[in-house]
Amino acid sequence: MLAIGSDHGGFELKNRIVKYLESKGIEVHDFGVYNDSSVDYPDCAVPVCNAVNDKTCDAGILVCGTGIGISIAANKIKGIRAALCSDVYSAKMAKEHNNANVICLGGRVIGEELAYMIVDTWLNAEHLGGRHSNRVAKIHELEN
Ligand code: RB5
Repeated sequence: MLAIGSDHGGFELKNRIVKYLESKGIEVHDFGVYNDSSVDYPDCAVPVCNAVNDKTCDAGILVCGTGIGISIAANKIKGIRAALCSDVYSAKMAKEHNNANVICLGGRVIGEELAYMIVDTWLNAEHLGGRHSNRVAKIHELEN
């Protein structure tokens, strides 16, 4: 189960990604928003990150206008490794090196087809472990 959420700036792309994932048989919990009224992106990051942290969902996708604000907010939440991805290479590395449990996308930055490729790449990549796990552990030491 994947968690997904957006603010108004990511609302359209978020909805397209939900449909795309569901068409591939991937279960998605859509935490909203459910319309394009203006909201504050930190509020939208919280339910998705909580679902990842409490393991209700395996990973999360967050979308705002640029992906920047929502990724900054998500990375303030203990346990979250949120990667802002606007290209496929970064999406692959986000899993292989950083073991990102959330990816963030810019609904006003990338088109839907690129977004689908980014999501697929991140979902299908594997964390490489080894030295990368040590580095990820050091990231979490910064939380304390
Ligand atoms: C909302 O206008 C916009 O600031 C937000 O979606 C996001 O781009 C913030 O980083």
